[in-house]
Amino acid sequence: MRPLIAGNWKMHGLAASSAALARALRAGAGEVGCDLLVCPPFTQIGAVAALLAGSPVAVGGQDCHREREGAHTGDISAAMLRDAGAGFVILGHSERRADHGETNETVRGKVVAAQQAGLVPIVCVGETEAQRLAGQDTEIVGWQLHSSLPPEFGGIIAYEPVWAIGTGRTPGAAEVMAMHGFIRRELQRGFGAVGAGMRILYGGSVKPANAAALLHLPEVGGALVGGASLNAGDFLAIARAAALPNMAAGG
Ligand code: PGA
Repeated sequence: MRPLIAGNWKMHGLAASSAALARALRAGAGEVGCDLLVCPPFTQIGAVAALLAGSPVAVGGQDCHREREGAHTGDISAAMLRDAGAGFVILGHSERRADHGETNETVRGKVVAAQQAGLVPIVCVGETEAQRLAGQDTEIVGWQLHSSLPPEFGGIIAYEPVWAIGTGRTPGAAEVMAMHGFIRRELQRGFGAVGAGMRILYGGSVKPANAAALLHLPEVGGALVGGASLNAGDFLAIARAAALPNMAAGG
């Protein structure tokens, strides 16, 4: 499977800057040899999806509500995301878990809603630094997987160590391989052959300079990129770095 490079724009982007970024990605996307996805803020999804229509760059949301519609002031449903042009949605990002008190149970409800609306959920898991130092990293990630994923899960996992998000720090290759191997085994245990084929993205301070070292490791199926996804040149450079071995192999 081609790597997926997903950009999480977080709370960045007004109309002009989002359109400029989308146009630059559209212009450069053809040559990279990866699947590409951008997740703009809600207000820009429709416009960005229109600009990227017919291009190799897919569009996603950064969150959705667990219900299809109703009295939930300020919330956005999965069906609304789909209607605006999204095909994917990031769920359970550590910033949502921290800023909005989202629990694994909240995330699981959202995953079900996303799948019912025809969106591919990207479910984020990852340990804090304190949990890693206490040797609890796999225990925490295993618990997040078991409690956040519904039995009929058919999406993507993003492993994002909380201490690596926006810090410029990343785990070493051995740590990434150990955690991605663990996640793969858990997915296979929970979902059988489907779990064996699920993409597992790495996220947390992915940059052009470290992309090749992180993204060619076994069981790393691409990246969820925050800060570097706001610059088209950096985002496409990450995608090119991720794609290189496939291209060399003729795939
Ligand atoms: P970062 O963010 O690339 O800026 O570290 C990643 C994320 O939060 O998805």
